[in-house]
Amino acid sequence: MASVSTVILGTGSYAPARILTNAELTKMVDTSDEWIVSRSGIRERHIAAPDEATSDMAVAAARAALADAHLTAADIDLLIVATVTPDMPVPAVSCIIQAKLGLRTNVACFDLNAACSGFVYALDTASAMLTSGRYRRALVIGAEKLSAITDWKDRTTCVLFGDGAGAVVLGVSHEPGVGVIGTQLGAYGDSTDLLCVPKGGSSFPATAESIAAGDHFLKMKGKEVFKIAVRAMEEAARDILEHHHLRADQIELVIPHQANLRIIEAISQYLKVPMERFYVNVDRFGNTSSASIPIALDEARRLGRIKRGDYTLLVAFGAGLTYGSALIRW
Ligand code: COA
Repeated sequence: MASVSTVILGTGSYAPARILTNAELTKMVDTSDEWIVSRSGIRERHIAAPDEATSDMAVAAARAALADAHLTAADIDLLIVATVTPDMPVPAVSCIIQAKLGLRTNVACFDLNAACSGFVYALDTASAMLTSGRYRRALVIGAEKLSAITDWKDRTTCVLFGDGAGAVVLGVSHEPGVGVIGTQLGAYGDSTDLLCVPKGGSSFPATAESIAAGDHFLKMKGKEVFKIAVRAMEEAARDILEHHHLRADQIELVIPHQANLRIIEAISQYLKVPMERFYVNVDRFGNTSSASIPIALDEARRLGRIKRGDYTLLVAFGAGLTYGSALIRW
């Protein structure tokens, strides 16, 4: 049987115009630029306008990806949106995006929540659906308005997150050895409490008290998350390389989830891949969850950091706690 693989036909991203600097954050909570930069590497982040929803950012990123792929909305028959911040709990934001983009009605549309690993999970899902032969071209979007679930009075979290969206257009290729050549996903479901929005779901529906207590905002045990993140991302990277008989030095570019520069540096050290081969934009975006990898991927492509024949490794980690890696050959 002829080989069929999923290939990236185009990428796009969108960052809201408003930039929130560390200096501004020092006026909102008891923190300092020095603390934020030394602990996380973050210098600024983009924040969506009050009337700008996740779907608006997703649509902008998707339009850029379609233009890059020289395709139109009519060419898409599958839409997967990775997000933890849909416009509203129901319906799926993918349906709102479908309408705003003018996609056909006979397009499969759904959301996927694997938190910061969401884009890698969505890439794997779309790849399986495309290589099944039942779909031809997919739009996979990672989009987040984390500012909407951030407690701006909690200095331990509010300095870390940002808003934005990234998108890819996927198609299939019969050329052997190119495209999404492997993915690996997993989760530590026994650690859900380390990073969560504790109330507002079915186990604790929102009440006036829970809202007053800020329990519908993101809560994180940063130190514990840090340790598991480093281990999980290193393992996810190592395992996928081993599985495909590749050495770390054969990877031209690693695009890690952008949560914290120290996490990225630790992975670089453990994998023995120099930092020059890691794409880093956490300093300008903070952690944008599902959007972080597709934004970084789009920037890296536009900056010429990815050439034909290169191997790129995506590696992610997020609430759940989920993790995932994907290996792409261009
Ligand atoms: N400004 C100044 N001080 C702060 C602060 C801030 N924004 N946030 C916390 N602190 C204080 C703490 O209160 C603590 O003070 P104490 O020692 O008096 O109790 C001190 O700084 C150290 O806090 P700690 O949490 O131990 O810092 P840390 O070195 O672990 O760094 C994180 C904190 C959040 C940056 C780090 O744990 C981290 O990045 N974790 C992973 C987070 C992540 O990536 N999550 C997303 C995964 S997808």
